[in-house]
Amino acid sequence: MITVALYNLKGGVGKTASCVNLAYLAAKDGFKTLLWDIDPQGSTTFYYKVKPKDAHAIKSLISKDADLGNAILATEYENLEIIGSDNAVKSFDIMVEEMKGQKSRLKGILKQLEKEYDFVFIDCPPGFSALSENIFHAADVVLMPIIPTTLSIRTYNMVKDYFKEKDLDSTKLMCFFTMADLRKNMHNEIMEHLYKDKKFFQNYIPYLSDVEKMGIHRQPIEEFAPSSYAAKSYRDLWTEIKEGVVE
Ligand SMILES: Nc1ncnc2c1ncn2[C@@H]1O[C@H](COP(=O)(O)OP(=O)(O)O)[C@@H](O)[C@H]1O
Ligand SMILES: [Mg+2]
Repeated sequence: MITVALYNLKGGVGKTASCVNLAYLAAKDGFKTLLWDIDPQGSTTFYYKVKPKDAHAIKSLISKDADLGNAILATEYENLEIIGSDNAVKSFDIMVEEMKGQKSRLKGILKQLEKEYDFVFIDCPPGFSALSENIFHAADVVLMPIIPTTLSIRTYNMVKDYFKEKDLDSTKLMCFFTMADLRKNMHNEIMEHLYKDKKFFQNYIPYLSDVEKMGIHRQPIEEFAPSSYAAKSYRDLWTEIKEGVVE
């Protein structure tokens, strides 16, 4: 089982859009896939038209003897299941509180899924917290979508520093560009500069309105616009990621 956490310190960078599409593509490739929407905003849950069973269940999901089986829901798609977010802001506080001083809590909880799934994708909330630290410990790959702007470089460096400071395995950190606009010199220059870092996948997701249309269709792009450039971009990125992580 490979756990991939879509994470960035920043919000609005394409974590959810990427999580929804990459998990879908993994499942389509025949991998048994679980998507865990840990962000209280519940956008992934919204895109997959899922209603979490119990709005107050978050505590039972992250307690030491958590039983995830109960929370896992089917999606419309084969090989793809989901743990939805209950859309309660309070859930985030509960998760952070439960995980304080328990760096490996989430890792322990995910262990029970090891035999069931090939991939677990986690859609993370932004920011640093006891929850993000747990995610960094639990994930095999911390996958960061990065918009090629100056501020993004800054937050990227902050995440790398955080990994050093907390003695986390920084080889887990892998990145790709999202919302890239190659007509902009700045985007080109920043991409060229960061590609030297060797932490970036070559394939990137351009700024494309078909990605935004996921909100209207409430489906992964591959479902409503399979011949679009956006769908192709995510397919190419997925192929590269898969080749990088599957032994
Ligand atoms: N490649 C893209 N091109 C255009 N819009 C995008 C792209 N990726 C994401 N978006 C839009 O940007 C907004 C933020 O994306 P989202 O995936 O929700 O970010 P995050 O989960 O990091 O907060 C959404 O409205 C989404 O539709
Ligand atoms: Mg999101």
